[in-house]
Amino acid sequence: MNMFDLTGKVAIITGSTRGIGNAIAKTMAAMGASVVITGRKQAACDTAAQALIDQGYNALGVACEVTKAEDRTNLIEKTVAKYGRVDILVNNAGLGGQPKKMIDMDEQYFDNYVDADLKGLYFMSQLAAQQMKAQGREGAENPYRIINLSSAAGIKAPIGDTVYGSCKAAVTHLTKIMANELARFGILCNAVAPGYVLTDMTKDVMADEKNVAAVTRMISVRRYAQPEEIASVISFLCTPAAGYITGVLIPVDGGMTIN
Ligand SMILES: NC(=O)c1ccc[n+]([C@@H]2O[C@H](COP(=O)([O-])OP(=O)(O)OC[C@H]3O[C@@H](n4cnc5c(N)ncnc54)[C@H](OP(=O)(O)O)[C@@H]3O)[C@@H](O)[C@H]2O)c1
Repeated sequence: MNMFDLTGKVAIITGSTRGIGNAIAKTMAAMGASVVITGRKQAACDTAAQALIDQGYNALGVACEVTKAEDRTNLIEKTVAKYGRVDILVNNAGLGGQPKKMIDMDEQYFDNYVDADLKGLYFMSQLAAQQMKAQGREGAENPYRIINLSSAAGIKAPIGDTVYGSCKAAVTHLTKIMANELARFGILCNAVAPGYVLTDMTKDVMADEKNVAAVTRMISVRRYAQPEEIASVISFLCTPAAGYITGVLIPVDGGMTIN
C-alpha cells in the first residue's frame, strides 16, 4: 500500500476556488482523490474544477455559501450523486483579514465571523459525519477524515482579532471534541493552524512593505508561507500514513507561535 496515496477517495474542500483551499484541491487531486471544489459562486467553482479536469483529474464544482443550511445540504447531496460517497471534508472556507478592535466592534461584524468561521464549519462537519456514518465503517483501516482550518491567531492573541482569533481557538477545541465523538464511526478529526500565508485574505496587509517587515520579524524562518505549504500538511493528514492521528492541532507557521 502506498501510504501517501488518496486514490479512490472523495474529498470536499470548502472555499477551494482560490487560496489555500485551491492548493489543497490541486494537491489531493494529484494524489488521486476526486475533489469537490466549492465557493460562493457556481461559475468560480466550475472554472476551478475544469482546470483540474483539463489535467486529467476528477473534479466537480458545487457552489456552497457555508453559512447557508440549504447550500451545505446541497453540497453533500451533489457530491454523493456524482461520486456515491464522502471520505474527506476539509473545512477551509472562512472569513478573515479585517482586524477590528473589540472596543469598536459592532454586532453584525461579530455575527459575520462567527457564522462563516465557526457555525458553518460546525454544521458542515455534522452533515459530513452523518453521511460517513451512514456509509459505514468500511474505512476502518483507512478512516474518514475531517480537517478544520484553525489559525495562529487562535493560538496567539493578536490585537484586533478578538472574533476571528476566538473562532479559530474554538475550532481547535471543537476538533478535539469531534475527534472523541466521531472516532467510533471511523472518522478522524484534526486541525491545522497556518501562520501567514500569501493569499487574497492577506494580500492587502502584505502590499505594505512595513507590514511585511513586521510580519516576517514574528516568524522564526523569516518568511511567510505559500498556500501549497499548508495544503501538503492537510493532504498528508488524509493519507493512510496519518491513520493514527486524531484530535490534534498542527501549527504550520514557520515557527510563528514559538517566537
Ligand atoms: N491566509 C492566511 O494567512 C491564513 C492564516 C491562518 C488561517 N487561514 C485560514 O485558511 C482558510 C483559507 O484562507 P485563505 O487565505 O485561502 O482565504 P482566501 O484566499 O480569502 O480564500 C477563501 C476561500 O473561501 C471561499 N469563501 C469565503 N467565504 C466563504 C463562505 N462564506 N462560504 C463559502 N466559501 C467561502 C472563497 O471563495 P469565493 O470567494 O469564490 O466564495 C475562497 O475560495 C481560512 O479558514 C482562513 O481563516 C488563512
